[in-house]
Amino acid sequence: MTNMKQENFWKIRSKKYNDLKWVHEGAYIKAFKTSADFRKNDFVLDIGTGTGVIAHAVAPLVKEVIGLDISQDMLNNSNWENNKYFIKRDIRNPIFYDNVFDKVTARMVFHHITERTQEAMNECYRILKIGGKMILAEGVPPAPEVKEDYKKIFKLKEKRLTFTEESLLSLMKNSGFKNTKVSVYIMKNFSINDWLKNSGLPVDKQDRIYEMHVNGSEIFKKAYNMKNINGDCLIDVKNLILVGKK
Ligand SMILES: C[S@@+](CC[C@H](N)C(=O)[O-])C[C@H]1O[C@@H](n2cnc3c(N)ncnc32)[C@H](O)[C@@H]1O
Repeated sequence: MTNMKQENFWKIRSKKYNDLKWVHEGAYIKAFKTSADFRKNDFVLDIGTGTGVIAHAVAPLVKEVIGLDISQDMLNNSNWENNKYFIKRDIRNPIFYDNVFDKVTARMVFHHITERTQEAMNECYRILKIGGKMILAEGVPPAPEVKEDYKKIFKLKEKRLTFTEESLLSLMKNSGFKNTKVSVYIMKNFSINDWLKNSGLPVDKQDRIYEMHVNGSEIFKKAYNMKNINGDCLIDVKNLILVGKK
């Protein structure tokens, strides 16, 4: 994606991003926070901070947080106060010295970094202090047999990478992270209607994506534990939280 295209993509998404239910799901944020063991004196960089949801959640636990994002429109919906600072920057465009941060966080960001992905992870590694930790969260297909369906659905939505546990582990290990631990967080009853309505996608694409869910194979429905309730389609979404040490 060119920079201009990327700006526009996030400009549209930024309008309703904070209305997305999953973004604020308390149990997901709690799972993310507890996996990282944040300390009072930590200096944290939240990359792809977007509207700053993770930066805000982590800030009370640590000394300072910098939220970094390529999209000014997403950042405009963040809230600058107290120990949080925001910076418009591409993570692949270095700005910090080596060994600066105690923790680097990245929730639902790396699948958007479709080019020079390893370079982005290398940068996270470089700016962490020795002994510092990277906390990475990404959605993955719920089972290998529905990976192709997953790709087809998301292809209608955006250009993105489809990760698996193995590919995420490789991404981290290739940058040098050690002792990498993986935990699973399942978002139960994820509402497809809520997701599509706040996606910024044109209505015809929203309809096609909805249809792809309700008309999915039995294997697909089972893997997603899909339910149709009151005109909505509810699925269980699999997320992985990886923590690696420098
Ligand atoms: C799905 S949002 C996630 C926002 C936030 N982390 C959260 O969990 O709510 C992904 C964000 O990553 C940002 N992003 C994508 N590529 C990036 C890059 N190369 N460098 C910095 N930010 C990037 C986008 O602008 C967007 O705000």
